[in-house]
This record gives sequence, C-alpha cells and structure tokens, in this order.
Amino acid sequence: MTFPATRLRRLRRTKPLRELVRETELAPSHLVQPLFVTAGESVREPVESMPGVERFSISELVGEVTEVAASGVRAVLLFGIPASKDETGSEAYDDEGVVQMAVRALKEAHPEVVVITDVCLCEYTSHGHCGVVRPAAGHRGVEVDNDLTLELLAKTAISHANAGADAVAPSDMMDGRIGMIRHQLDEEGFSSTPIVAYSAKYASAFYGPFREAADSTPESGDRRGYQMDPANAEEAVREARLDLEEGADVVMVKPALPYLDVVRRVKDATGAPVAAYHVSGEYSMLKAAAANGWIDERAAVMESLTAIRRAGADMVITYYAKDAAGWLREEAISR
Ligand code: PBG
Repeated sequence: MTFPATRLRRLRRTKPLRELVRETELAPSHLVQPLFVTAGESVREPVESMPGVERFSISELVGEVTEVAASGVRAVLLFGIPASKDETGSEAYDDEGVVQMAVRALKEAHPEVVVITDVCLCEYTSHGHCGVVRPAAGHRGVEVDNDLTLELLAKTAISHANAGADAVAPSDMMDGRIGMIRHQLDEEGFSSTPIVAYSAKYASAFYGPFREAADSTPESGDRRGYQMDPANAEEAVREARLDLEEGADVVMVKPALPYLDVVRRVKDATGAPVAAYHVSGEYSMLKAAAANGWIDERAAVMESLTAIRRAGADMVITYYAKDAAGWLREEAISR
C-alpha cells in the first residue's frame, strides 16, 4: 500500500527538482565580512584561535577588501584595534583613530563596498569593558556608567559617519543608545546613515576567540551586567522592539546558531530587517573540527549559513563570508 500524499521524496530525486522547490536562498549578497584593522604599517597578524583570520593594518586591509569584493561579498564590518588604550576609550571617537582612517581609505579604494563600523568602547578601553566604568554600589567591583557611555558612543558613531561609514553598528548593549545615536547623527547631518543595532546580544562564551583578536577581554568582571541572559527569548523581542522605536534600521541577534529560535521570533514579531552574527567561537569550532578531519568544512559551513537564513536572517555576518561566497560561485559555475 502506498500513501501518495506523503511521497515528498519525489521532489528530492534530482538537483534541479530540489532547487525548484528550495525555500531558502543563500547568496554572496547576503553576507557581511567582519575585519580587524590595527594601527601600524605592513601588519598582517594571524589570530591564533581563528585560523584564516588576520588583523590588517590599513593598506593590507584595502588589499583584503579587494579580495572580499571579488568574491561577491558587498559589505564589511570593521573592528579597530587601537595603538593605545585608556580609561575612556578615547581612540574610539578620535577622527584620526584607526577605524576612521580605515573607513576613509576603504571608501576611496572601494566606493562600492558597504562599510559598516562596530561602535563600542571595549576594544579601546584599558579595562576592556564596553563603556566608562565606575565603582559599583556596595563595593562589588566596577560597573559601566550607562549614561556617560552613551555620550561617547554617539561621538564614536558621528566620527565614523564623518569618515564615510555607510552604516554604524552599536554593539555595546547600553540602555537608550540607539535613540541617543540616532538623535545625534540627525543633528550632525547624518540622518541617512542607518543603524544596525546589536539588539539581542547574549552574554556568550562564543565570543572567546574575538576577545583574543580584539584584545578586549574585560580585566575584571564580565559583561553579564549589560549583555543578555542566554535563557531569555521574549526579552530579545522586547530589545528589538525598543531599538526599532528608538530608530534602528536593522536589528541583530548574536550569536547565531545557538539562537536560531530568537532570530525567528524577532523576525516574526517585528518584520524588520534582521541580521544574525555567526560569531568567532562558531567559526573556530568549525575550523578546529575541520582541521582534525572530523567534519567536511565546506558542507558544514554552507549548512550553517543556510540554516541562519532559513531562521529568518536577511543578512549574515560571518568570518566565512569570503570563502562561502567563493564556494557559492563555484557551485553556480558547476551547474
Ligand atoms: C564588542 C563586540 C564583541 C563581539 C562583537 N562586538 C565582543 C564582546 O562582546 O565581547 C563578538 C564578535 C565575535 O565573537 O565574533 N562589544
């Protein structure tokens, strides 16, 4: 006896049939390549815990973006590693800071590439927190001063926009930062610069390799006072809604694979453009397993990125962007 209605396999038999009914598309145009730019000259420094990822000084960065663009990826997300750090992260909002100079160089060499800048203080502060710190009440170490930090974040965003950034991406998780940054950008004449808000940024162990890359591990304490509890999903929807009300153009969920349910909920609840950040630890896990021959890297990467898109992400930020775009092109040619 057969059950014709259950014969879904009929559509899986050949590749053209499968592609006719495929629900999710993954293309280079959906991907964003994160890049680390460092002070100095002729620097290409491998990040040990992220094989294949390097920190570039500005002219090397320009060369790397030539390759990224050739792969078909049209957007990059910049993180700066400053020459020196201080209590208030002053290089973050210095017009001659490493990110500001990198943005100018990139927009001159590659005007067609979308340059998004990470707006946060943690790479620039000597203590490694995402904002200015003060002693916490009751002698419980230090805590970030939310409102003082907002001023500095807005200054940072303006200096990035001024340098030519196409969009700014605040990743600090302070309360009220999107409204503050939107207001100040508008005041300074940057009302058409979009904000990609890290709305649901979890306090995650998967940022470990990034902190090596950006040298931004907090000296003391952790980020649980401002990043989200992995146990919460409703809260992510609330964060995203608030950010949209305050003027965010894109809302982000981060990390990606452990939070696909959150990506879906945020997408369904808001209908807004959603970004998902496939973070450093997610990248390093795939790299480590592949290096041991325990996993087929290319297949696992494609499956992961497709799953993130299927969950509802419009754009996927991933250290695999350039490679994945190359693989997607190879697939397209071999058809
Ligand atoms: C800075 C920031 C972090 C990441 C992006 N922006 C690190 C953190 O919060 O510790 C992590 C990205 C990654 O792991 O790839 N606030």
